[in-house]
Amino acid sequence: MLRGYEGVRYITDKQMVVFDIGGAYTKFGYAGETSPRGIIRTEVRCPESKKIRRIIDHIDVEDLYQLLVEFLHLLFFKYVVVSPKDARILILESPLAATRFRDTLAKVMFRHFEVGSILFLPSHLATISTLGIDTALVLDVGYQEATLIPIFEGIPILKAWQALPLGGQVVHDNIKKYFNDVSTDLDFPEKVLEDIKVRTCFVTTLERSTKLGTKDAPAPPPTVKYPGVKSISVPGEIREKAFEILWERDNDNLSLPTMILDAIVKCSLDTRCALAENIVLVGGTTMAKGFASRLKSELLTLVKSDLYKNKLKVESFKFHKAPSKPNYTAWLGGAIFGTTDLPLRCLTKEMYLKTNRVPDWSNLVDNQKDETSYEV
Ligand SMILES: Nc1ncnc2c1ncn2[C@@H]1O[C@H](COP(=O)(O)OP(=O)(O)OP(=O)(O)O)[C@@H](O)[C@H]1O
Ligand SMILES: [Mg+2]
Repeated sequence: MLRGYEGVRYITDKQMVVFDIGGAYTKFGYAGETSPRGIIRTEVRCPESKKIRRIIDHIDVEDLYQLLVEFLHLLFFKYVVVSPKDARILILESPLAATRFRDTLAKVMFRHFEVGSILFLPSHLATISTLGIDTALVLDVGYQEATLIPIFEGIPILKAWQALPLGGQVVHDNIKKYFNDVSTDLDFPEKVLEDIKVRTCFVTTLERSTKLGTKDAPAPPPTVKYPGVKSISVPGEIREKAFEILWERDNDNLSLPTMILDAIVKCSLDTRCALAENIVLVGGTTMAKGFASRLKSELLTLVKSDLYKNKLKVESFKFHKAPSKPNYTAWLGGAIFGTTDLPLRCLTKEMYLKTNRVPDWSNLVDNQKDETSYEV
C-alpha cells in the first residue's frame, strides 16, 4: 500500500521527473529546469532497526527491493512532492551499471508506485547534450568507481569503455589510513572523513607528487584545524596525499589517466584527436581542487612515456566546462533530454506489466522495429 498521498501535489502536465540515483548521492528534479531541486544521500533509515542504511550496501535482491521502496517513498513524498501514480520518470543510468539494480528499480517503480512510464537514459550520452557537442570523451568519477565512454558523432564507442574502482570511497579510505597511522584514537565516521576531504584536501601537482616520499620532498602545506564536534588538526601531509590514490598505478598499470589513453587507443585513428580535445569530466570527485590540471599534466607526461609513445600520437588534451557543477551535469543532460519531443524509448507501465522485463538496448531482440519497440 502507498502511504502519505494526502496533501501531495498531483502534476497533471507532462513534465518529467528526472532522477540520477548515484551510489552516494541522488539528484532529483524536473525536466526543463536548470538545476536539480535537491541532492540527497542515497540512504534510508531502516524502519525496524532505525539504523541508516545505504542502498549500495544491500544484501540481496529482496533487500534491495525493500530499500528502494523506502528510498523512493521518501523521494516522491518528502522531496519531489509528486504523486508517483502515472508520473513520467527519466532515470539516468550508467551503461556499466548492474542489470539487477535496473530491473529491481523498474519493478519497484511500476509494481509498487505504479508510475506511468520510465525512460532509462545512458548518463554519459546525456552529459554531452549540456554542451551541445556530439563528440566527447566522458569520464565520470563519482563515489564507487570511475567510468569512461567515448562518444563520436553521437554514437557511444562501447568497445572502448573503461572502468576502475576509483572515486570518493577510495579517497576516504586513504584519509582514514593516514589518520590511523598518526594515531589509533582517530577513528572518524565516513561522513566526517568526506567533510574533511572536501574542506581541507586538494590534488597536488604532478611535480610535487613525484618528489613526495623522497629526500627532496617539498615542505608540506600548512596543518589546518577542522572544526567539528571536537576540533581536529588535519596535517598538511594528509591534505596533500589524500587524492594520490587516484593517480597511483595498480598491478595492471592502470589509473585515471591511463583510462583516458587506453580508451583513445581503442578508438579508430580518425577519431583520436577529436576525442582528446573534447574531454568532459563529470562526477563529484572531479570537483576536487586541482583535479583537472593534474589530469592534464599526467596525460601529457604519460603520452610521451614508453608505455604510449609508440601507440598514440596525440599531443594536446582539452577539457570542456559544462554549464553546471560536475556532480549534476548528467542530471542536467537528462533534464534537457526530458523536454524534447524526440520519439523517446519510454518503457510504459502497460508494456512492462505485459512483458515483465526491462528492454536492454544492447540486445538485438529489443532493437527490432516492430511491436517490440517501445515508443511513445
Ligand atoms: N568539492 C568536492 N571536492 C572533492 N570531492 C567532492 C566534492 N564534491 C563532491 N565530492 C565527492 O564526490 C562524490 C560524489 O560524487 P557523485 O555525486 O558524482 O557520486 P555518485 O553519483 O553518488 O556516485 P556513482 O556515480 O559512483 O554512483 C563523493 O565522494 C563526494 O565526497
Ligand atoms: Mg553518478
